[in-house]
Amino acid sequence: RHRVLSGMQPSADSLHLGNYLGALVNWVRTQDDFDAYFFIPDLHAITVPQDPDALAQRTRVAAAQFIAGGIDPERSTLFVQSQVPEHAQLAWILTCMTGMGEAMRMTQFKDKSAKQGADAAGVGLLAYPMLMAADILLYQPHGVPVGDDQRQHVELTRVLAQRFNHHHGETFVVPTGFYPETGARIYDLQNPTAKMSKSAESPNGLINILDEPKVIAKRIRSAVTDDGTEVRFDRDAKPGVSNLLTILSAVTDTPIAQLEERYVGKMYGHLKVDVADAVVERLSPIRERATELLADPAELDRILAVGAAKAREVATPVLQDVYGRLGFLPPL
Ligand code: TYM
Repeated sequence: RHRVLSGMQPSADSLHLGNYLGALVNWVRTQDDFDAYFFIPDLHAITVPQDPDALAQRTRVAAAQFIAGGIDPERSTLFVQSQVPEHAQLAWILTCMTGMGEAMRMTQFKDKSAKQGADAAGVGLLAYPMLMAADILLYQPHGVPVGDDQRQHVELTRVLAQRFNHHHGETFVVPTGFYPETGARIYDLQNPTAKMSKSAESPNGLINILDEPKVIAKRIRSAVTDDGTEVRFDRDAKPGVSNLLTILSAVTDTPIAQLEERYVGKMYGHLKVDVADAVVERLSPIRERATELLADPAELDRILAVGAAKAREVATPVLQDVYGRLGFLPPL
């Protein structure tokens, strides 16, 4: 069976609706057809400052949300990046094969480092995509299910895999990004031209999986809409309404064209009520299940330990092959 692999950072107290619709829903689907690996990139999270206690808690919260959202740790391998040391080891090698300009052209690096200023931004932000490439290439996956904002990083991963293969012989599978048809980019409810993100200035545009239904309904009700009254998908003229249609389409598995027909002659308010109901209905069981799982952190840690051991069975021989090809002396 072909493999898939993907990861989601533990950098907030909850995953948000963009993480869920852009990635997690697709992860769950891949489990039927692929040998699937999902992990929590805590090494990536420390590219910006993290409180240690919060990081540990957020790592468990992420794991609980993956499971509650439908990842089955019996079928798929679920693990934490720092518990599989091969990620950091391969990252160094790929870092040495990446051009400075190539790394500096990554838009996520440009955005994040511009926000923090040259001195506050650590070198880790620059090295981030090579760690991500290592995460991926260690498992030789065929597909990487991610949202649209990771496209450039997946492209760099392909370039690095090809470069390594070119210099050292066929070693890595060149992976493909798997992007959802609807929901690959969910926008901020208050600022629907910016992607929904945990680092948004105001939390009002954000929907977290762990939010209370009341909070979710309120945020959707107060979402920014657009001029005019017609409920129609038009990313340029109607970014707010288009975002709500995208969310409703993804959450209820209904094509956008069908939704547009349903709202002919109806107002934005109708759409908002339906989006709020549908999102609450979809997220409530996940929130409840995640809360139950978090009540037993020792059991979560056990699941993650089993996952890390399974992950290492794949990662260790791949790293050893790479080491050998580079001329490193055999492992002790
Ligand atoms: P991260 O943690 O920022 O996001 C996790 C996943 O959620 C998707 N996503 C979105 N999708 C739609 N709309 C949005 N507004 C939105 N915001 C986030 C992301 O595309 C992603 O799929 N670098 C990665 C984590 C990572 C990784 C990897 C992913 C590390 N190593 C290896 C795949 C393979 C990141 O920061 O995603």
